[in-house]
Amino acid sequence: MSSSAIARVCETVNCTKEAKLQCPTCIKLGIEGSFFCEQDCFKGSWKQHKQVHKKERMKNILQEQNEAAQTWPGYFFSGPLRPHLKSPTRTVPEGIEKPDYADHPEGYPASEMDIRGSTQIKILSKDELEGLRTACKYGREVLDVAASMIKPGITTDEIDEAVHQACIERKCYPSPLNYRGFPKSCCTSVNEVICHGIPDKRKLVEGDIVNVDITVYYNGYHGDLNETFFVGKVDDKSKELVQATYECLKEAINMVKPGVRYREVGNAIQKHVQAHGFSVVRTYCGHGIHRLFHTTPSIPHYSKNKAIGVMKAGHAFTIEPMINMGKWQDNLWPDDWTAVTIDGKRSAQFEHTIVVTETGCEILTARRDKDGRPHFLDQLQKLEGKGGQQA
Ligand code: MF3
Ligand code: CO
Ligand code: CO
Repeated sequence: MSSSAIARVCETVNCTKEAKLQCPTCIKLGIEGSFFCEQDCFKGSWKQHKQVHKKERMKNILQEQNEAAQTWPGYFFSGPLRPHLKSPTRTVPEGIEKPDYADHPEGYPASEMDIRGSTQIKILSKDELEGLRTACKYGREVLDVAASMIKPGITTDEIDEAVHQACIERKCYPSPLNYRGFPKSCCTSVNEVICHGIPDKRKLVEGDIVNVDITVYYNGYHGDLNETFFVGKVDDKSKELVQATYECLKEAINMVKPGVRYREVGNAIQKHVQAHGFSVVRTYCGHGIHRLFHTTPSIPHYSKNKAIGVMKAGHAFTIEPMINMGKWQDNLWPDDWTAVTIDGKRSAQFEHTIVVTETGCEILTARRDKDGRPHFLDQLQKLEGKGGQQA
């Protein structure tokens, strides 16, 4: 039982004592109310009270089925997740610099499309790198805001709202908003969603895994990163998946230095997950990033790929492996964004924006301590130490 500050009366019939305790299952399920005076009263009411939980769970399932049936009649879902209602489009105040697609009716990224077909990779000057560094620093701060909110009962739309606000506070444009028509300010990908999940009114439930992918645009540069989080306690297999995915990103980053071929990255990643019996998504790749959100090079995460190019100091790009518990194949929901696993099993992802240096690389979106020093390993320690909330 957890305590509550609001003065209320106990729910137990014929008990008039002040209620100081709230049922933890109700909190998890997002049921309001359910206050009791003390443990004994709660225990006494348990048999009756637990019906409230059962009802709420049934209601959630039915609601999900109805909404899906109404939305896309005839679509076959590969897993249990369903789309939920979306909130209205959010706006960005005047005075915040926007990328070219922000005001285009279909979100067409003209500057990206202009140089499509070229295999050239931009080498960033010192000033350009400083611009990218700042965008990445803000991106990291915004992801940390999202991370701090994750718990059972919160909706991905509430996360999106906070992300949107956190961007604006930093004078950043949330890069996903209207990018090729994407309707929200970040991507939230739950359980079997591989990537590009659209934030909606579904409440996170204990045992879910959720990836939050943040990109911000500041002073002409995009900074892009994502992490997969645990919602309360998750099963061991999901922990193994998230941990292995995190290690994939770490190993891939460790091999980055001038002279390495971009096609090598996928070999290391796939080799790492094979032992677990997990698979690597092939449709979505890491990408060059700077003044453009997505540009050359394209960096597949699977082995024996044909990626073009060799790493040079000043190249900036993301690595963002998506690892599936089951089959590697993906399928698109009829919203044309949400990529799910074809077998409905779970998928995890981690992403950093990095720049190649003379000796290796700099992780521009790394977590930083209070003094601003990057520390890449803390997430992993958290995962190992407490089996904790965040990956
Ligand atoms: N942030 C994603 C990436 O890692 C891209 C999201 S594009 C959007 O590349 F339109 F879905 F937001
Ligand atoms: Co990316
Ligand atoms: Co991203």
